[in-house]
Amino acid sequence: MNRNFITNPFLTSGYISEKYFCNRQTETERLMTNILNGQSTSLISARRMGKTGLIKHVLNKLSDSITGIYLDILATENRAEMLNQLATAVVMAVQGKKGPAKKVLTFIKSLRPVFTYDPLSGMPQVSFHMHQDEINLQIESLFLFLGEQQQSFLIAIDEFQQILFYPEKNTDAWLRSIIQSLPNICFIFSGSRQHLMTDLFSNPSRPFFRSADFMSLGRISSADYIPFIGSHFSNARKEISDQTIREVLEWSDHHTYYVQLLCNRLFAKQIDNITMESWKQTAHELLMEQELLFIKYRELLTRQQWELMKAVAREGKVFEPTSKGFIARYGLGSPSTVFRSLQALQQKEMIYDEYDNTGNQYWSVYDVLFRRWMGLSRIK
Ligand SMILES: Nc1ncnc2c1ncn2[C@@H]1O[C@H](COP(=O)(O)OP(=O)(O)O)[C@@H](O)[C@H]1O
Ligand SMILES: [Mg+2]
Repeated sequence: MNRNFITNPFLTSGYISEKYFCNRQTETERLMTNILNGQSTSLISARRMGKTGLIKHVLNKLSDSITGIYLDILATENRAEMLNQLATAVVMAVQGKKGPAKKVLTFIKSLRPVFTYDPLSGMPQVSFHMHQDEINLQIESLFLFLGEQQQSFLIAIDEFQQILFYPEKNTDAWLRSIIQSLPNICFIFSGSRQHLMTDLFSNPSRPFFRSADFMSLGRISSADYIPFIGSHFSNARKEISDQTIREVLEWSDHHTYYVQLLCNRLFAKQIDNITMESWKQTAHELLMEQELLFIKYRELLTRQQWELMKAVAREGKVFEPTSKGFIARYGLGSPSTVFRSLQALQQKEMIYDEYDNTGNQYWSVYDVLFRRWMGLSRIK
């Protein structure tokens, strides 16, 4: 995508600049304060709420005295792949810089990696082909090398809970023991699997216990989102009332990605005045585009899981999924079946649980579009 020429101000992937980023002021300030004080942060929220965007926003604001390094380890399956991601991220961060940064690059080269270029993005990729024992040593030496520099680093590891799936046991203990002795390096550990992340950072028997400021990222409030959306439309001489924006936010459940997606589509339409009819029409088109995918879900799930998924989608929020009332309303069988299906759906990241303002736990379907699709009054 040519990022120099933006025609649609509502991004549905990545980060460009402050202009296209709504609010998150308090969160940005808290992260910046933590970084300046050498305090690491764990950043947790449901998928697509805006963690990665927030990290990129903070990296964008860092002064030159701190080198920001960003890596996403979602796709990694072991420590060797983590090393590749880490080295690639370090190379990207110091590329084209002078002074101490150059030393880092020389150091990485001394580890004899293979440099390739991603054919799509043109970005450099660093990979190592070495024996398992050496992998641990290389990761350690890379961290220690950064730790020896007369310079501060911020390392943001996105989808950090992935380390729990590595075949190498106790990766968290191993990693913690390396990084705790590096005073010039501060971390952001971000993740979407809330239970795993909470366990990693708030369970006293875990090595990362209390090692980071625990921050959960909530929804952007209407008070912040309405002027953001309104001004981007009006800058393009498109009319939209606050009431219409409210409806859009409501339909998207204030879930950042879905808000952005619907606004992006609305903006792309050649309409000067966005009315209730036009947003509803656009939302409907979005659902129709997804229909095949939703029907695929049915094939991927067991019958009980599918029935439960539909029931939760129809309810919106379910506070007592194993209660008699809920089970009877949707003919879901026994509480133990529901319990098992619920666990499976959570593992597949199709359903998540959260706590409301009064501290009550509830379950919801992740995909807002699926929820809305189920809400269409048709029999499935
Ligand atoms: N504050 C924001 N303002 C506008 N768009 C945002 C904001 N935060 C995130 N986004 C957009 O929302 C989508 C999901 O955000 P992302 O950061 O990828 O979520 P997460 O990392 O939590 O899964 C992306 O398209 C991103 O561009
Ligand atoms: Mg992310």
